[in-house]
Amino acid sequence: MSSLSGRCVLVGVTGGIAAYKSADLVRRLIEHGAMVRVAMTASAVQFISPLTLQSVSGQPVHDALLDIDSETAMSHIELARWADQIIVAPATADFIARLATGLADDLLSTLCLATQAQIAIAPAMNHVMWDNPATQENIATLRDRGVDILGPDTGSQACGETGPGRMVEPEALLRWLTSQTDDQLLTGLSVLVTAGPTWEALDPVRGLTNQSSGKMGYAVAIAALKAGAKVNLISGPTALSSPPGVPTCRVTTALDMLSAVDAQVSDVDIFVSVAAVSDYRPEAHQTQKIKKHAASFNLELVRNPDILATVAGRSSPPFTVGFAAETDEPVAQARRKLEAKKVDLMVANQVGGENSPFGRDDNALILVESQSETDLGRGSKQALAQCLVREIASRYHAKYSAPGS
Ligand code: PMT
Repeated sequence: MSSLSGRCVLVGVTGGIAAYKSADLVRRLIEHGAMVRVAMTASAVQFISPLTLQSVSGQPVHDALLDIDSETAMSHIELARWADQIIVAPATADFIARLATGLADDLLSTLCLATQAQIAIAPAMNHVMWDNPATQENIATLRDRGVDILGPDTGSQACGETGPGRMVEPEALLRWLTSQTDDQLLTGLSVLVTAGPTWEALDPVRGLTNQSSGKMGYAVAIAALKAGAKVNLISGPTALSSPPGVPTCRVTTALDMLSAVDAQVSDVDIFVSVAAVSDYRPEAHQTQKIKKHAASFNLELVRNPDILATVAGRSSPPFTVGFAAETDEPVAQARRKLEAKKVDLMVANQVGGENSPFGRDDNALILVESQSETDLGRGSKQALAQCLVREIASRYHAKYSAPGS
């Protein structure tokens, strides 16, 4: 039996050329046992006939806010309550903007405002529209509010240009929807995540830091929360808002991060160290701005403690997961760190070059253990975090349900 059996999925369709793919998504959902209703915007009707979606879903299609004439009418509030999950595919730039603003001037935007179900959107638009700061700000707002952003894919577009903006294929959307239903893998467990960079001040205006935005770590915290865990996040300085439902402790330096971890880690089942912690700090912190005098300037640095190794070295450590950011030989380097820091699992990602994950919304991860590797491939940080949490959960349960554990 599919994990989607009996699940109420509302598919929202907005007006883009990719709307034709929504019929395939609906068909696949029904094949997997989901109960599907479709809500269309007025412009979606220009791209795909409601009759097509009615035929594949076997249900009347909803396209009017006040659908009072139809016998099978469900009010927008009933429909919003009925849904276990809403997926808007394709989601146009206009719809994304209206969702971010909280408008409720048609059925689909009203449903999204009135529902308590998880909302996911699969953006589809011209790549310049996607890259526009207005769209990116709207996406960031929605992501901060917990909306799942699926894609877009990169490739050739209906306009003849190439770039990011293609709707993610229905098969991948289905895979993602299925993954949402086995989401209670960490129920009853407590997870501590570190994220972001650290800042080691040299003087009141300068410091040592790195390009970590915190996006990967925050995505891991959200994915663990969705998997049913009690999650706490310790974050270095980032521009991200704290994920709803995840108490977040803000720190600056590696020493601050270590103190915060020390204060919380004893009750934790799983520790995931995504933070890019500075390995060194200036030996002295000048209280006055350092003046420019000599032609050269030597900086004395001292080693910071290794937070991950400290946690893994406790007498009764949690299940420990580290990330390895490597410019070369990521798997070999991650395995070296796995052994040196004595952690349960290392997650390798390649940094430097065109696809360096720092600050981006996507990444490519490889899980590294002493005898094996598992390539999770490239994807959005959200989607990868969900896969990673599933992989951690299965290893955690295997380790602690083993005889004698
Ligand atoms: O934040 P984003 O912009 O989304 O980018 C994500 C990321 C690239 C920062 C992330 O995916 C990542 O790779 N994080 C780990 C970065 C890092 O510090 O790697 P490392 O190879 O130097 O460290 C190995 C492990 O030891 C890490 O788990 C790190 O948290 C930990 N460590 C390192 C040094 C130290 N003093 N204390 C530590 O705990």
